Amino acid sequence: MKELTDLTELKDLTELNVLALSGSLRRNSYNTALLHAARKLTPVGLAIELDHELGGLPLYNQDLDGDTPPESVTALRRRVADADALLIATPEHNASVPAALKSAVDWISTAPQQPLRGKPVAVVGASPGQFGTVRAQLALRQILASVGADAVSKPDVTVFHCDTRFSDDGVLTDTYTIDLLRGLLDALLIKARAAQ
Ligand SMILES: Cc1cc2nc3c(=O)[nH]c(=O)nc-3n(C[C@H](O)[C@H](O)[C@H](O)COP(=O)(O)O)c2cc1C
Repeated sequence: MKELTDLTELKDLTELNVLALSGSLRRNSYNTALLHAARKLTPVGLAIELDHELGGLPLYNQDLDGDTPPESVTALRRRVADADALLIATPEHNASVPAALKSAVDWISTAPQQPLRGKPVAVVGASPGQFGTVRAQLALRQILASVGADAVSKPDVTVFHCDTRFSDDGVLTDTYTIDLLRGLLDALLIKARAAQ
């Protein structure tokens, strides 16, 4: 297979669509703000669409997971299947992935068509603490590996002390984080092209 590393060449091809999921349901979430920042930084060749529906999903319940699952679940599975890649921002709750995000991944993982298998995924996370969601991201990577998703490994975007890196109205202002996000999106583009 041809090695896909020439970004200039890759950016000339048809645009790939990335579904961005925030693991936070909070209105002024730093993690959702990080996804908004990523959308503004998107390289030519990628288009990022933010998903705002995770809060409408029921908690995963195998009793509801039959031939006719809840409509919100079917819709999410479809959006994931249609996306060329995912970008997931995870907060850290008690050193792990927040329940809403874990439950959403569980719902997607049991879809008969297995939309996460082989799906290119980039992971980011922001926390006001000093570890910047390292532990939540590790947990999420383990979950993604178990469902066969293809996670981008570098660069790590673990936004520690995130309360110092956004303006009061939620705009990412920290140039170091902006550069990391750019690098991650380029890596996601390369992985998503290779998966085509
Ligand atoms: C239940 C709960 C547990 C938390 N546990 C952690 C934690 O383990 N590590 C951490 O860095 N922050 C922790 N936090 C603080 C979150 O990082 C902080 O609320 C952050 O702003 C959440 O992300 P968001 O702004 O995208 O909603 C916790 C917050 C809550 C509500």
